Amino acid sequence: MTRAYTPGDQAVLEQQGASLLEIRDLHTHFFTPEGLVKALDGVDLSLKSGSTLGIVGESGCGKTVLALSILRLIPDPPGRIVQGRISFLGRDLLALDEVELRAIRGNKISMIFQEPMTSLNPVFTIGSQIAEVILLHQRQRAGTRKEALAASVDMLAMVGIPDPEKRAGDYPHQLSGGMCQRVMIAMAMACRPRLLIADEPTTALDVTTQAQILCLMNDLKEEIGTSIILVTHDLGIVAQVCQEVAVMYTGHVVEHAAAGEIFSHPLHPYTRGLMRSVPTLGARFRGEALYAIPGTVPTFKEMPKGCTFNTRCPEVMDICRSEYPPIFCPDRDHTVRCWRHRSA
Ligand SMILES: Nc1ncnc2c1ncn2[C@@H]1O[C@H](COP(=O)(O)OP(=O)(O)OP(=O)(O)O)[C@@H](O)[C@H]1O
Ligand SMILES: [Mg+2]
Repeated sequence: MTRAYTPGDQAVLEQQGASLLEIRDLHTHFFTPEGLVKALDGVDLSLKSGSTLGIVGESGCGKTVLALSILRLIPDPPGRIVQGRISFLGRDLLALDEVELRAIRGNKISMIFQEPMTSLNPVFTIGSQIAEVILLHQRQRAGTRKEALAASVDMLAMVGIPDPEKRAGDYPHQLSGGMCQRVMIAMAMACRPRLLIADEPTTALDVTTQAQILCLMNDLKEEIGTSIILVTHDLGIVAQVCQEVAVMYTGHVVEHAAAGEIFSHPLHPYTRGLMRSVPTLGARFRGEALYAIPGTVPTFKEMPKGCTFNTRCPEVMDICRSEYPPIFCPDRDHTVRCWRHRSA
């Protein structure tokens, strides 16, 4: 039977089993001169241990802000987490002080950004940058600088960098984009984190390198037992590597389910629109036009009343224009914010 929950409702969490990460009713706002931007407007999400969660949605829907909020890296000002709870391994990340946070960042939770070049330091060799991470967080594994450098060579070998001893002495500008991204993964994985957050890690890469990087992340996940949050525009990637999918729209998670379930039974009209918009090989030659969801994501100044997708939704009803939908749970482990799925 379909049940409705209010944001932050504990019952939804209980249905989703034991979680590594639980986010409840998270609101992250930016106080800009142009006005208030509610980048996250009540996000509820959980991630099971050992799982890869794909976060998808059009540009500006809050994917990066969600990733940065988990690590408490929102620039303040203008941003601030104004409400909510982020529980990681049972600890409330929002209640930690800076020292406690530093022990978690890069150690228990790592992040890979879209642009590796902006994250690597151009004036240090890649070997010394990885060693630094190991020395900072993993003294018990490699106590001396020499041991840490040896461990960093092992990490470079693990992420498939050829001739790792020699490459450890290279500077970032001596490596290709794909190699730099491998180094970023080596750095992120050096501390064997429980959770890796990868924000568009392969968008800037060609498709072959992209496939290699994704395979690598998957292998490391198996080997180290890391759970992954993968932010991407690409539903093809999600279908390949994710066990769970969360679809974001205007700062909300509008649908969350197992990947197989979401691809076979997408419930939200937005999710269905995203799926229809994926170009397929050969469609053009069969004379099929490329589908695009009508309209664009509303800006925060023109946010519609009620469901924020109502101006673009092919299945809009009267109630959608007046009230934002709560979380409905039409199936076990499948949640959706759409009035079409309220109980009869
Ligand atoms: N520093 C900031 N100051 C003001 N607004 C911001 C800031 N960072 C993000 N935002 C706003 O928050 C909203 C969500 O942005 P976010 O970067 O999370 O989108 P996204 O889903 O990651 O998009 P993309 O797919 O393009 O990376 C956007 O409206 C954006 O303009
Ligand atoms: Mg982003």
